[in-house]
Amino acid sequence: MIRGTNGIAALGLVLLSGSIAVAQPPAGGGQRGGGAPAPQPMTNLQIFPKDAPRQQVLQTMNAFTQALGVQCNYCHVQEGRGGRNDMASDEKPTKKAARGMVLLARDINEKLPAAVGKSADAATRVGCATCHRGVAIPKQITDIVTDAAAGGGATAGLAKFRELRTQYYGGQSYDFSEGSLIAIAQRANQAQKADDALAYLQANLEFYPKSSRTYQTMAQVKNAKGDKDGAIKDLEKAVELEPNNQQAKMQLQQLKG
Ligand code: HEC
Ligand code: HEC
Repeated sequence: MIRGTNGIAALGLVLLSGSIAVAQPPAGGGQRGGGAPAPQPMTNLQIFPKDAPRQQVLQTMNAFTQALGVQCNYCHVQEGRGGRNDMASDEKPTKKAARGMVLLARDINEKLPAAVGKSADAATRVGCATCHRGVAIPKQITDIVTDAAAGGGATAGLAKFRELRTQYYGGQSYDFSEGSLIAIAQRANQAQKADDALAYLQANLEFYPKSSRTYQTMAQVKNAKGDKDGAIKDLEKAVELEPNNQQAKMQLQQLKG
């Protein structure tokens, strides 16, 4: 174990890799070649070791920005040229939250191996990106859309969904696969909001026109509403699209029989 760096290593981030090989001058000291000005010494490290090499702290900082999909000024007072630039300042609540998160991640990583019955080496490490996946507040899309709908119904819910899809599609932040709007619709249906549920499913057909599961779920919602004919039509469509959908076949037989 290397004195002083273990705490950061417990993050499971890039920070420690290669730290033995890299002969780093202590922060703020040492000879720097090329006449580059020596960087300001770091004055407010409370959870990273006080003597952590600057390069490693900055690598961790880069990992933070990537994991959360933010820039340095999300946590730091950094206004650029002519403005205030004070990385040591703790005035942004997000910086304090990040400290708490580092401790939380350490705590998880300490307890995780025992929970899964593996050695510390064999267990997967949790990092910021494990939860955050490129967003600062890593809420599930089903919760975000359902929350938006609490105010303005399915119209507001779908507007939120489309907004997120435009911004994040193709990335790792949110699940835009076939099942997402289906899950959102099922939640609406359980909350006695059948029309909202149908609106979500109808929208899902825009993105996945051949989704047998979407038709199958529409049938469930319609049947619960007492619209048996509509349910049968949707189940027929579900089976047509996916002849191996045994569940839809059985439900169709039950409804017809
Ligand atoms: C998610 C929040 C977050 C982001 C984003 C972030 N930092 Fe930090 N930064 C922190 C925290 C928390 C500390 C304090 C660590 C400690 O207490 O040991 C810190 C400390 C620092 C320090 C040491 C300051 C001192 O003097 O004590 C520097 C330098 C720094 N960050 C640079 C950066 C740079 C450059 C970026 C962008 C690439 C960045 N940070 C992005 C949270 C963040
Ligand atoms: C176990 C999952 C998990 C891990 C690991 C995790 N976070 Fe978080 N983090 C969350 C959740 C959930 C929230 C949102 C809490 C809320 O609703 O305000 C959050 C919120 C935050 C916030 C506040 C964002 C804001 O705008 O209010 C910051 C900053 C943050 N995390 C930084 C980090 C950093 C840096 C790491 C890695 C050291 C990390 N988190 C690791 C789950 C996690």
